[in-house]
Amino acid sequence: MASDSTGEHATLAIDWSALRAAARAAARQAYAPYSLLRVGAAGQVQAEGRADRIVTGCNVENASYGLTLCAECGLVSALHASGGGILVAVSVVAGDGAPLVPCGRCRQLLLEHGGPGLLLDAEGGPQTMGSLLPGAFTGSDLAARRDAGG
Ligand code: THU
Repeated sequence: MASDSTGEHATLAIDWSALRAAARAAARQAYAPYSLLRVGAAGQVQAEGRADRIVTGCNVENASYGLTLCAECGLVSALHASGGGILVAVSVVAGDGAPLVPCGRCRQLLLEHGGPGLLLDAEGGPQTMGSLLPGAFTGSDLAARRDAGG
């Protein structure tokens, strides 16, 4: 799982300015002809207990609006396509370069890969995913509540 039993990640120095710069660069690649809101997301990946790499994503819209992919969807896909790992810090920005709070669906997506200790970039300083999505449904709820086999 993404974090220890307290939901805290091992202390890892986060270079927030590098992360936000990567999110801004990703936002410039967005395909957002319908909303005109460019979004970029960048995540610091931890692998084998160390800062490993930064993965990014941008929003990709569609003429059928409901099919739009948020920037965080691209980030999570990039995480797995590049070898997996745990997200320890994420910056999501709009085209103006300032932090954007992830939508509800994307909070759930990011939680899966960073747990409640995942840090989210925000104007007033990083916030934990646990504070942004309290009482979340997770894989352990699924395991505890599914029907017995057979
Ligand atoms: N968007 C994201 O990429 N991430 C979010 O967390 C919020 C919304 C995008 C989706 C759509 O392309 C545009 O912002 C307007 O909703």
